[in-house]
Amino acid sequence: MVTSKSKVAIIGAGFVGASTAFAMSLQQIATEIVLIDVNKEKAYGEALDINHGISFVGQMAVYSGDYSDVKDCDVIIITAGANRKPGETRLDLAKKNVAIAKDITQNIMKYYTRGVILVVSNPVDILTYMITKWSGLPNGRVMGSGTVLDSSRFRYLLSKKLNVDVRNVHGYIIGEHGDSQLPVWSATHIAGQNINEYCQGPNGILTPEDKLAIAEEVKKAGAEIIKNKGATYYAIAITINAIVESLLKDQNTIRTVGSVINGNYGIEDVALSLPSIVNSGGVQSIIPLTLSPEEEAALRASADSLKAILNEVKD
Ligand code: NAI
Ligand code: 2OP
Repeated sequence: MVTSKSKVAIIGAGFVGASTAFAMSLQQIATEIVLIDVNKEKAYGEALDINHGISFVGQMAVYSGDYSDVKDCDVIIITAGANRKPGETRLDLAKKNVAIAKDITQNIMKYYTRGVILVVSNPVDILTYMITKWSGLPNGRVMGSGTVLDSSRFRYLLSKKLNVDVRNVHGYIIGEHGDSQLPVWSATHIAGQNINEYCQGPNGILTPEDKLAIAEEVKKAGAEIIKNKGATYYAIAITINAIVESLLKDQNTIRTVGSVINGNYGIEDVALSLPSIVNSGGVQSIIPLTLSPEEEAALRASADSLKAILNEVKD
């Protein structure tokens, strides 16, 4: 539990925002959580519902508010956005959410005093880039949840395949939180051994086909959940909680958050995810990985694909 005073704003009290506040209350991650939404009744109802369980977990302030409550926040999380309507393309949705995010950023910056802006709404890489530019905050003070969730899905699937505790599986999905993402097999480790070496022993077999299948399953995981239950929110809520803990506790944790990249692997002026050191200031630095030539080419292709979308939605 964080003992010193810590204040978090969550903008968007929908499935993701409300689940995040709930997860935060269970983990007592902050001393104060404010929910802000255009639908004021929804934000109020979610806060009230969480408050009625607080007696079992510990004292904290959870309430609904408005943008003036962004003042003095340590972390401001953006989970507001529209969902895709029938007949709408991904690009239509991107344009709609870019417009919503611009309005939200302008409102945040009227009251911003300090803290990190954590972008979760989709398309998260596009919004991370735009919000970094609109806010005028130093690079790294705005970050996206990026591929932290995808990296967790990757580790989970590997742990199931190899029958080993997920906490002992280390690996990253990098690039876009979307179709052009890639797993970094060259930096995937179990028990200090590269995954290929680990799988030469008696511990399990991982064929090239298995690797392709795992990468594909990670990529399609969000769509699979949406097909079955309409939205994804539990794993992203836990993911956000983990990122916020790194921020509030100044942990220097390595996480594949998204940020605007300026020069790494020859990539410029686009936001995507790379393993980064995360502390109270935001993205403190990006870890340079020795990628294989194929991985480096795939990362550049991911950047190009994101830039193409950015060119379509930039205002
Ligand atoms: P939802 O529809 O349940 O909630 C969205 C909320 O945003 C609603 O309560 C709505 O009233 C609010 N809202 C809309 N415009 C607003 C504005 N201008 N200001 C303040 N609030 C506003 O949607 P859900 O399921 O919570 O998803 C939210 C976003 O999170 C979506 O963009 C979704 O794609 C994204 N997401 C991202 C993930 C990631 O890994 N980055 C994972 C899961 C969801
Ligand atoms: C997810 O990957 C849809 O971005 C959302 O769960």
